Amino acid sequence: MSSANRQWRVARYPQIDEPISTALFDWVETGIPTPGDGEFVVRSICLGTGPAQRGYLSPGRGEFLSLVPLGQVMRGRGVGQIVSSRHPDYPAGRIFVGSLGWQDYSVQQPRGKQFVFSTKLVAEPIRPLSLELGILGQAGVTAYFGLIEVGRMKPGDRVLVSAAAGGVGSVVGQIARIQGAETVVGVAGTDEKCRWLTRTLGLSAAVNYRRDDLDARLAELFPNGIDLFFDNVGGATLDTALLHLAERARVVICGFISSDYRRDPGPGPINYRKLVSRRARMEGFVVFDYWERFAEAEAALRDWYAQGLLHSCEDIDEGLENMPASLASLFSGTNRGVKLCRVAPDPAPGPG
Ligand SMILES: NC(=O)c1ccc[n+]([C@@H]2O[C@H](COP(=O)([O-])OP(=O)(O)OC[C@H]3O[C@@H](n4cnc5c(N)ncnc54)[C@H](OP(=O)(O)O)[C@@H]3O)[C@@H](O)[C@H]2O)c1
Repeated sequence: MSSANRQWRVARYPQIDEPISTALFDWVETGIPTPGDGEFVVRSICLGTGPAQRGYLSPGRGEFLSLVPLGQVMRGRGVGQIVSSRHPDYPAGRIFVGSLGWQDYSVQQPRGKQFVFSTKLVAEPIRPLSLELGILGQAGVTAYFGLIEVGRMKPGDRVLVSAAAGGVGSVVGQIARIQGAETVVGVAGTDEKCRWLTRTLGLSAAVNYRRDDLDARLAELFPNGIDLFFDNVGGATLDTALLHLAERARVVICGFISSDYRRDPGPGPINYRKLVSRRARMEGFVVFDYWERFAEAEAALRDWYAQGLLHSCEDIDEGLENMPASLASLFSGTNRGVKLCRVAPDPAPGPG
């Protein structure tokens, strides 16, 4: 166990199109905190990354991406173990998921369902605990509710997913397959990712948007149109996919990483006009709106995982010191699956 609390604190905000790097943070070592009345201290085991973390460093983003003040520990979700407690419902030893921040130890208190601080005690932890940030965590539940609730996925649908080899996308493609899609096509940025999508995750086909002619490939792969498009990237990919919608298609807007945090995000999608002739629907969502139903998604995801239907796709860096690089990898596209950073080994299984 570390004898100090190592932290990444925000030193400055990036320029609009500046990549994430260690230059934005200060590495600080401080004492291990002790809990006050009603509080408990959590030791981080794995920390998650997400494109939204870039928004926490971007003044003026508003909405749910509230800024992390300069000098504060960088915000981020993680799974950890309670090591000391002055709260009767959160005893030492239990496994906890919440906003731990980029640090070894955090002081926590139950915060109800304020969405960015959504927390939980893990009732029946399964190993490795990183699963709590991957298929059983935000990536899994985002894919689940986005596809099933927002996208109204039904058997026989012809499904397209972008950033298909990323954290959310890799679960979306698999759930679509499990739910009986007729076709599941993934869009990704390298041939190696495309091979992985078809050979390992069982998708019907994959398109490398950096090399292939996406428009031509979608015409070949969806001669009768796309019923459900789960979009993680926006921009040109969204605009091209809109040309290939089937009647009554559903377009799920999960994210728009291709145009976010760019000095020139480019024009908006012009092909939204297809929504009219195709009687189609395009809808965005925020996963934390489903917080009270997370247990339902987790039960389904656990079940599929236990049956061997759902692969856990984790891309894990070792060490807290790598958090800035882990986050940066989402924007350079070098991650495959859910990008995480392991800060400490899983503790031996106990009663928690
Ligand atoms: N709505 C919600 O509640 C919610 C919740 C969680 C996440 N999200 C969103 O879901 C999306 C996926 O999140 P994630 O955490 O799973 O990240 P991720 O997909 O693991 O990582 C991002 C991926 O996006 C692709 N990408 C990066 N820059 C791109 C560009 N300029 N053009 C096209 N593709 C690009 C890269 O893959 P390639 O190799 O394919 O380029 C990269 O691996 C993000 O947009 C995120 O903001 C939304």
